[in-house]
Amino acid sequence: MSTEKRVTFGSKLGVVLATVGCAVGLGNIWRFPYMTGINGGAAFLLIYFICILFLGLPVMLTEFFIGRKSRRNAAGVFKVMAPGTKWSIIGYNGVFAAFFILGFYAVVSGWTLEYIFQALSGSLNGKSAEEFQQDFTLFSGSIIRPILWTFLFIGMTHIIIVSGVKKGIERASKIMMPVLFLILIILCVRSVTLPNAHLGLDFLFKPDFSKINSSVILSAMGQAFFSLSIGMGCLITYSSYFVKDTNLQKTALQVTFLDTLVAILAGIMIFPAVFSFGIEPTAGPELVFITLPNVFNQLPLGNIWSLIFFILLGVAALTSTISLHEVATAYMHEEYKMIRSRAALIVSLGILILGIFSSLSMGILKEYTIFGLTFFEFLDYITAKVMLPLGGMLICIYVGFRVDRKILKAELTNEGTVPFYFFNTYVFFMKYIAPIAIGLIFLNELGLIQKIQELVA
Ligand code: TRP
Repeated sequence: MSTEKRVTFGSKLGVVLATVGCAVGLGNIWRFPYMTGINGGAAFLLIYFICILFLGLPVMLTEFFIGRKSRRNAAGVFKVMAPGTKWSIIGYNGVFAAFFILGFYAVVSGWTLEYIFQALSGSLNGKSAEEFQQDFTLFSGSIIRPILWTFLFIGMTHIIIVSGVKKGIERASKIMMPVLFLILIILCVRSVTLPNAHLGLDFLFKPDFSKINSSVILSAMGQAFFSLSIGMGCLITYSSYFVKDTNLQKTALQVTFLDTLVAILAGIMIFPAVFSFGIEPTAGPELVFITLPNVFNQLPLGNIWSLIFFILLGVAALTSTISLHEVATAYMHEEYKMIRSRAALIVSLGILILGIFSSLSMGILKEYTIFGLTFFEFLDYITAKVMLPLGGMLICIYVGFRVDRKILKAELTNEGTVPFYFFNTYVFFMKYIAPIAIGLIFLNELGLIQKIQELVA
């Protein structure tokens, strides 16, 4: 095993920043607001919080345990921990999920480049809300441009992966993450001081419980998994690069907290503006791309704000695309003894092909649907709502029922040097609550629970 050739993070700060970089991305600033928008607002947010706390945190910690303990890629770890068994299926699920997620994530990342370009050329200036909407639809539905941007974004990801993550990503994260945070706060202030801002805040924070149904619950769970980057071995891969004395519990709490905070700030930044400009909160994937340029136009030097914001969004996306790419690259590099650059090239080409189809499915291929979803929507659905929760469930079942508790505790307490006050609670949640809850949510979405109720009645 060529462990010495793999990237390692340089310091504890690097560990946290890289993992936050992985978790914070389009999921927080693009997907979270639009999911909240189409799922009815505050009620969705509430269930999202519950999923983060009771499913997300335990799964994250469990992934950290697996990764740092075995120090291999997402599928390789199971060959170390459970040789000769089928558990490595968790890892294969993850490798496929990496391709599928990148297949649409890289396209949206490409959109940020278009908006950077537009901000630079001054063409975002002086447009009305309707114009932003129309222009977005025209752009995302066109053939060549979005694919070129997707290609460029995959190229950037590729270069960083090939040249090693340590210097590039650690350094970029150290500067960019705090700046992103600051910009978010300034934009939140601008947004909540727009006329009718309170309507947006009500939408985000005042739950209407009648909005909750099985699909809202599944969406909230999917969003929690997607945003925390859990369920597909991304955090297994990253934690295999953690320095040995990393406090895993603290890191899980910090990453979860910051990730959730960024999502909430994104919500506060977007919903007041949505209501203030009369945009539909249910607009879908274009929500952020039509709302934010409107807010920026309300600021002096609007173009500069757009520029800074979309650069930061692009960087946040980049630190996430790298983490996804790394899952597949590390797997091929280590399991097939392929040189890293060749493994990376295969991954990049695979994503590019998926990316082309998902980009085209916003336009000319719109009519070609799978279960009623466009290819873009299908990739999103199958990963966030199926593969990630399923992966998370299997990870919990594996560690809960197959791993000796002493080994688990030793790893999570750094051989007893850091306390773990809620160890038994954690084990209970990881072993029973998370798998059962995820299972029930699946059954519920499939309509099976309703059928059983009808049968009993
Ligand atoms: N969590 C990232 C975001 O919010 C996306 C991401 C990176 C991801 N790695 C992942 C999602 C692994 C699922 C699994 O943008």
